[in-house]
Amino acid sequence: MAKKLFIETLGCAMNVRDSEHIIAELHAHEGYELTTDAAQADLIVINTCSVREKPVHKLFSELGVFNRLKKADAKIGVCGCTASHLGKEIIKRAPYVNFVLGARNVSKIGTIIHQDKAVEIDIDYDESQFAFKEFRTTTYKAYINISIGCDKQCTFCIVPKTRGDEISIPSELIVAEARKAVENGAKEIFLLGQNVNHYGRRFSGEHEKVNFTELLRRVSAIEGVERIRFTSPHPLHMDDEFIEEFAANPKICKSMHMPLQSGSTEILKAMKRGYTKEWFLNRAAKLRALVPNVSISTDIIVAFPGETEEDFAQTMEVLNAVRFEQVFSFKYSPRPLTEAEHFTNVVDPEIASQRLHQLQTRQDAILDELKWATMDKVVEVYFEELRSDGYVAGRTDNNVSVKVKGSQEYLGTMAKVKITEVSRAVAYGEIVA
Ligand code: SAH
Ligand code: F3S
Repeated sequence: MAKKLFIETLGCAMNVRDSEHIIAELHAHEGYELTTDAAQADLIVINTCSVREKPVHKLFSELGVFNRLKKADAKIGVCGCTASHLGKEIIKRAPYVNFVLGARNVSKIGTIIHQDKAVEIDIDYDESQFAFKEFRTTTYKAYINISIGCDKQCTFCIVPKTRGDEISIPSELIVAEARKAVENGAKEIFLLGQNVNHYGRRFSGEHEKVNFTELLRRVSAIEGVERIRFTSPHPLHMDDEFIEEFAANPKICKSMHMPLQSGSTEILKAMKRGYTKEWFLNRAAKLRALVPNVSISTDIIVAFPGETEEDFAQTMEVLNAVRFEQVFSFKYSPRPLTEAEHFTNVVDPEIASQRLHQLQTRQDAILDELKWATMDKVVEVYFEELRSDGYVAGRTDNNVSVKVKGSQEYLGTMAKVKITEVSRAVAYGEIVA
């Protein structure tokens, strides 16, 4: 009988793709099949996130649970950013863990599973040209990594310490991977990197210098690619050429993630984000002017060390000015290995909670106003997910999540949908063509 692999993925889209790579390698070289039942598994893998403190705490309690329910001879591996960050400490705290594999060492999965108590967390390791075997959780949307690591040094962020320096994956590999995904049925290509619009600054070895805008053109030239999404771009690198390509290229979905972090230029400086409030507003305004139906999402951190009432008011001002279609907001969480960990001007936790609440309440009110924009409209939806409640779900090009009654046969198809009901997070409708 085939060996069984149970894998849990926490954190960002890059982790989702790393997990697909792990599954592909273990299937092709070791004969593992996936299971959704950890108790049946011969190998349990947790692909971790370390960007905030909470998930790290959760890891050890979860490991304990897996250790209790697993088969006697099953192995447990910890992968991802917390693996990179804590390394052998994980095996010290949870001695039943069999191996620890860092976020930049995914290609070593096939060997590390045979080495008990091995720890591979080299953040200089270069797997930018490693040819992973194929596996995708969904055939309709294909995640493709375009770079590894991050060259920025945002003072709050642990990612450069867990994923290392930025290296771009050669454009010909990305294009080949996109072609293959299309052959296998994907219409949507989702390009991934910590800082996608910084693409092309450094390759390992000799490669044609291609920037992100040019990469977008090349992927969109592939026959059968109907939609392109990407995350995350950095506001600093949103030059005119990039925004104009975004606006003009019909295959690029009109949904942009613009991680603001803070609306205060002073705080942005302390975060080392490299842009000002005015630059951010200018870029958002240019986007809205060129792409009237664009939806803009963002990430915001409240209560970064030194954030005053006035700084926070600046963030609220940007929130009100841009009217984001989606906001991911977090309380600042001090992270080891970062510069801000040593900042002493911390914000009182009570005030931090109040600010987060105030921001989220205001954002909910904005969403309640914005949601009516699609009511009664006919929109084009690409269906990619079957829900257990008798609905199929998909997205419009500008990222509105839409559900219609229906089944399997809609998956992987585009259809025109008339919106009949709207809420903050999702719209409901009926297929009209
Ligand atoms: N390169 C990505 C960021 C990855 S981390 C980007 O620019 O979008 C994802 C988000 O987590 C960040 O945008 C930030 O808002 C949040 N985050 C990162 N470190 C954090 C910290 N120490 N405390 C709170 N939120 C944090
Ligand atoms: Fe982190 Fe800033 Fe890079 S948020 S991932 S250091 S762009």
